[in-house]
Amino acid sequence: MSGHVVAIIAAAGSGVRFGADIPKALIQLGDRTLIEHAVAAISPTVDQVIVTAPASHLSQFQGLLGSSVTVVVGGQTRSESVRAGLAAVPSKTKYVLIHDAARALATTDLANRILVELQKGEVAVIPGLPEVNTVKSVDENGYVTSTIERSKLKNIQTPQGFELSVLIKAHAANDEGTDDAALVEKTGHKVLVINGEEKALKITTPSDLANAYNFLGTGKKFLTGVGVDAHAFEAGRELWLGCINWPDEVGVAGHSDGDVAAHAICDSLFAATGLGDLGSNFGVERPEYAGASGAQLLTETLAIISKAGFEISNVSVQVIGNRPKLAGRRKEAIAALSSALNGAPVSLLATTTDGLGLTGEGKGIAAIASALVFKVSSNDR
Ligand code: CTP
Ligand code: MG
Repeated sequence: MSGHVVAIIAAAGSGVRFGADIPKALIQLGDRTLIEHAVAAISPTVDQVIVTAPASHLSQFQGLLGSSVTVVVGGQTRSESVRAGLAAVPSKTKYVLIHDAARALATTDLANRILVELQKGEVAVIPGLPEVNTVKSVDENGYVTSTIERSKLKNIQTPQGFELSVLIKAHAANDEGTDDAALVEKTGHKVLVINGEEKALKITTPSDLANAYNFLGTGKKFLTGVGVDAHAFEAGRELWLGCINWPDEVGVAGHSDGDVAAHAICDSLFAATGLGDLGSNFGVERPEYAGASGAQLLTETLAIISKAGFEISNVSVQVIGNRPKLAGRRKEAIAALSSALNGAPVSLLATTTDGLGLTGEGKGIAAIASALVFKVSSNDR
């Protein structure tokens, strides 16, 4: 990328129309404030970021944004704030991108597309979206004076890109404008409009913030997995199923306590997270797991997936077998399974197989589980 590029982000407004008791740029949107979103998205495109902040919150902005961002005190109007930012721009700078913290979700791609046009020789490049409403001029008595041809209208956004010298000249008369391009237009320079983006919407009121949330997504990446287990009955063993003991039932053979419901859930969690399976994590070659309880394996599985950054949304397990009859102790088993998973939601079902297969013949018990897990991503942009 040729030439030093600086972004100035205007964030010194108080957000009167938003109506919060903190500056609008410090409003939280998802996992970070509006100004943090704006800085994060524009930073990859530029060499330096300058933020104009309200004098009353200067240190708070600097603390949030870190020392790599230059924070300066803004002015009484947006245009004055931009001029305060311009005063901090190093003279070696070739291009400046002027952006509003209020358009917190404008993407890195948009800033890049602006810069590409500047590098091709344009001196002023701004993003705009087609107008969808019919727009009319109205006089002071409420009467229409004209209908503006809609196909020629664009809703203009930021970031707006300029050759530094052109923007400095445009601001030299200390003029006011609702955007910077308006001042550049007055100097007679050509201003190119490129395609804007819906994500670059301006957050003015709380309902705009609600719209912005829709663009954020949930921030969660969901993953699902299935796990299966089966054990044959073995006389003389205790039966453990669903993390509870069944004193009057025949137990099952196995390296651990043979709790097929717990094991199937463990495997569904490993399947969802891609972290191996029961065998690779607690295999027969690991003597410390000989006789391990289903609850212990669930708790250790939870520890393994948590360490990798996953959380459980819910798990469900269906036990397949003629015995034991789960219905009477379903709640007890659900509570025990959930408790082993630190309170994660668990559902437990049971079925027989009409006399068919290993479980239908009464030779053992099987279980099938599914898990939904999520990883919280810090940047969904
Ligand atoms: N801005 C600024 N300095 C000002 C006024 C506004 O830097 N004196 C910034 C705002 O922080 C915002 C952008 O310019 O990021 C666009 O302004 P606007 O959306 O109108 O924000 P506010 O002026 O804060 O809101 P309001 O007009 O509702 O008070
Ligand atoms: Mg304003």
